[in-house]
Amino acid sequence: MLRSHRCFCVLCAVLAGAVALAVLLAAPQAARAQAAKGPLSFINDVAPILKENCFACHDAKKRKGKLDMTTYETLRKGGDHDDPVVPGKPDESYAIDLLNATDASRMPPKDSGEALPKEKIALIEQWVKEGAKLDAGLTPKSDLLRELRVRWKPPQPPAVYSRPVTVAALAFTPDSKQVVVGGQYELTVWDAVSGKLEKRLAMRPERAMALTFLPDGKLALAGGRPGQEGNVAIYDLNAKGKVENGVTLLDGVNDKTVLVKELLDTDDVVYCLAVSADGKKLAAGNSADRTVNVWDLSPGYAAAKLEQSIENHADWVLGIAFSPDAKQLLTCGRDKTAKVWDLAAKESLLTFPDHQNTVWGVAAKPDGKLAYSVGEDGQLRTWNATGEGKQVRAAGSGGPTFKVVLHPKLPLMATCGADKTVRLWNPDSGATLKTLSGHADYVYAVALSPDGNLVASGGYGGEVKVWKVADGSNVKSFNAAVGLPLPAAPAPK
Ligand code: HEC
Repeated sequence: MLRSHRCFCVLCAVLAGAVALAVLLAAPQAARAQAAKGPLSFINDVAPILKENCFACHDAKKRKGKLDMTTYETLRKGGDHDDPVVPGKPDESYAIDLLNATDASRMPPKDSGEALPKEKIALIEQWVKEGAKLDAGLTPKSDLLRELRVRWKPPQPPAVYSRPVTVAALAFTPDSKQVVVGGQYELTVWDAVSGKLEKRLAMRPERAMALTFLPDGKLALAGGRPGQEGNVAIYDLNAKGKVENGVTLLDGVNDKTVLVKELLDTDDVVYCLAVSADGKKLAAGNSADRTVNVWDLSPGYAAAKLEQSIENHADWVLGIAFSPDAKQLLTCGRDKTAKVWDLAAKESLLTFPDHQNTVWGVAAKPDGKLAYSVGEDGQLRTWNATGEGKQVRAAGSGGPTFKVVLHPKLPLMATCGADKTVRLWNPDSGATLKTLSGHADYVYAVALSPDGNLVASGGYGGEVKVWKVADGSNVKSFNAAVGLPLPAAPAPK
């Protein structure tokens, strides 16, 4: 039961990653705490424990017991009770009492899990004993989640992968010759026809969820580290790198000629991204706060301005597209709707509810009249992007469908999904042109080459395939997890 087992696909994979990461992160912290001899640091030693164990209930939104621990100031202000910390006196500190309590007052509460391990409580006690000091360079108002993120350094992407990645995003370079693929803390660039690895760009996001080239050839990325951080950034794949074994290595973490601009740093993964046809506007949809941010890029990347932050969805925003004239923004998400937003009037124009399940992707027809969306319901739905947003037609897309992309000039549209296929469609008639099979598992990402000749797809297990649009033949297949073989092909039917 592969399918039901993995019904939430990207979400599941992403969540599993978050758990694995939390386990990985917890160990070194404890080890460091024991080794620490000098005075403890609040941000490095104490705040990570609070974040992992307390912020879920004690952030600015939930404020259980009216206590928000996400800044030093609000932590020390206390909640229903006064300041839970008495500097120098752990024995008189209410927070320490609660951590050590064996009755119902214990924190974290008994119904939410185990008590904190002894060594972590000891560490917090030690910090209180040393005066409960805040690190130099921080203010009592500093956003601790943000400060922890700033201090976090991404690992090097693996030289050779030991486990597969899930390809959630890919894009053709503007000359249609190469495919850029999201890997583990990196982007990889491959020759579309020979499948040769050309470049590797190390980056801060663990995963790319959306990749789009801007008119000047720079690459915009949305992605993040599940449950920890979300990013929107602009990279220059043509920056100068270091060549090793015929592969150009680019440092998208530290080299400012590679990492051109970080537009957004938020608390959870950014799933989708769109650039207006004229390249002047960039929009990205968030899972952390369910907003869609729109930036004005016309003053240049360095001076890019956040134009509006739209709260129009009740859950994660998963898909996004500009109308061809960039006056409207089409979005969709986990709240089971697709929507159209008027950017000038800053108001919602219409809601398309027909999927009645998660809507994974949305696209706008170049004539500005029609919109297309796909989702968990296994339907490619065509609807009016204006007026009341009535559905024009629905066509079976072979099971849960994750992406829909439209060529900006040609009558060509592609979808991909859980049935392990890529489908090519005529957006005018709604007819299926071709069904491309051969992927061994779910296909999460699909892209059309700007010249309209090729389509690339990627999915579970790191499998990437490049196909010819004209005859549907498979030009090349490779594994985006460098060094790993392709997963076994499905048995022919
Ligand atoms: C699952 C939710 C949850 C988690 C996780 C949690 N708390 Fe609480 N906390 C509460 C609730 C609910 C209250 C209010 C209890 C009451 O009023 O009886 C509370 C109250 C408190 C208070 C008292 C606030 C006041 O002024 O009355 C402190 C201090 C506290 N928690 C510390 C912590 C610490 C430290 C952690 C992490 C180690 C933590 N909590 C984790 C739910 C949680």
